[in-house]
Amino acid sequence: MSTAAVAPGPKGVPLLGSLGSWRGNTAEFLLGLQRDYGDVVRMRLGPMTVHQVTGPDAVHQVLVKNHGNYVRGPLYEQFGVVMGKGLLTSDGEFWRGHRRAVQPVFLKNAVLDIIPNVVRATHEMLDEWEVKAQRGEPVDLMAEMLKLTLVTLSRSLFAYDIKPSSRVLKLIVDDVVEVMFRRGTASEMLPSWLPTDRKRKITRIHQVFDKIVADVRGSHARTGEGPLISLMEQAEDPATGQPWTDQQIRDELLTIYLAGHETTAVSLCWTLLSIANHPSVQEELDSEVERVLGGGPPDAENADALAYTQRVVDESLRMHPPIWIFPRAAAGPDTLDGYAIEAGSSVLLSPLVSHHNPRYWDNPLAFDPSRFTPSAVRERPRMAYFPFGAGPRQCVGNSMALLELRTIVAMINQRFKVSMIPGHALRYGSPVISLRPLKDVMVRLTSRERVVWTSPDRAPATGETSAAEALSCPVTGGTGQQA
Ligand code: HEM
Repeated sequence: MSTAAVAPGPKGVPLLGSLGSWRGNTAEFLLGLQRDYGDVVRMRLGPMTVHQVTGPDAVHQVLVKNHGNYVRGPLYEQFGVVMGKGLLTSDGEFWRGHRRAVQPVFLKNAVLDIIPNVVRATHEMLDEWEVKAQRGEPVDLMAEMLKLTLVTLSRSLFAYDIKPSSRVLKLIVDDVVEVMFRRGTASEMLPSWLPTDRKRKITRIHQVFDKIVADVRGSHARTGEGPLISLMEQAEDPATGQPWTDQQIRDELLTIYLAGHETTAVSLCWTLLSIANHPSVQEELDSEVERVLGGGPPDAENADALAYTQRVVDESLRMHPPIWIFPRAAAGPDTLDGYAIEAGSSVLLSPLVSHHNPRYWDNPLAFDPSRFTPSAVRERPRMAYFPFGAGPRQCVGNSMALLELRTIVAMINQRFKVSMIPGHALRYGSPVISLRPLKDVMVRLTSRERVVWTSPDRAPATGETSAAEALSCPVTGGTGQQA
């Protein structure tokens, strides 16, 4: 019998517990729990007992030290409706075998191979932006970043041009989010043989995704290209020695598409908005980009030297971590920061809440890349910051995402100044999977005055936004309110 204390937390109401507050502004609710009750908070969400765990020692215990005790649990199982059984949704030997099989493509040196694809895809986008900038047309930043990261990922890992499918993918994205998250609606409780709207959506999602999987595999069969699809086609089940089944390849391929592109796009969006809103950051970034890239494209040699750009990205991932909460289920009992965690209860990790804890982050709502100088990083507990998770289940695409983020941010800044269009307020949306802005983020683009590297068929452009214009719509408050 554990003698550890029961963690403090809100009482909630009979039967539902704190489900009402959770369903309101979830981000605000969880930030408030940390403020009011501390680093380990106990609450009930309907029938589930959930602990929000945000202190660095306790996070370390869950993700690293005692990770074997914390399995995926029911919340992740729900993702399986769309993704099937892949890296994100599986545990144990199955997960270990699959992680080992795909890992080589994601190692720090191996991901440098994606740079030419990042450069090409970004370049194509920026050429389109040039036309829009000249016409004074605004751009939907989130939509552009989603397209860019999808194309980059698909070309880099699967040698597959997904651009023609991006329109149909856009049409089903809301359905994907909806079916992956049970909301306790009546239709979810109907007998499984009834043809509900939810089931029709699931069937349609499967049809669209299965066609993409078939196309990727068909393209690979013809060309033999695509480092990750090659690994998947050659992978064997360590238990049986048999090749992965069609289902396993399908599930893993979809997992990578779904886990890899939206997260990176969300982060790009917040990073560019934060730069637009902080002229001193913009200035320092400009000078580094000019010094390191000298007007040319990023490559495997110079990408690592974009140290300040990386700090800007790191700070953006602190303030707006795209995966802002993720769950675990406690298989056995444990004690976190002196509080009892009983077997079968859920644990909720929240990078968003941990990254705003005033005990470790001075003035947490301020955007300040200097928090990520090597000496500042050394002074903080490591687990005060974990945008990619930690331990054996740390994001497999971590190095790829960081490389992509700093090269794309640098390239956009070489050619354009991005500024929010006044009147476009920015708030966190009801953050379901990733921490997206609430509405479309419309930005104005201004071609940079200085001549930079351009595609061979494009003439250099001129023009500059005034600092006043760049500042006219302050954004990027960290807590879900309009800043
Ligand atoms: C800024 C971009 C990204 C962020 C913030 C992010 C965040 C995360 C987080 C927090 C986890 C851990 C979840 C947990 O422990 O429960 C995770 C896992 C994962 N991520 Fe990412 N991710 C990003 C980009 C990518 C990319 C580019 C890929 C692949 C191309 C990717 C593929 C995955 C996969 C497959 C997992 C599951 C790993 C496992 O359990 O073995 N992610 N990601």
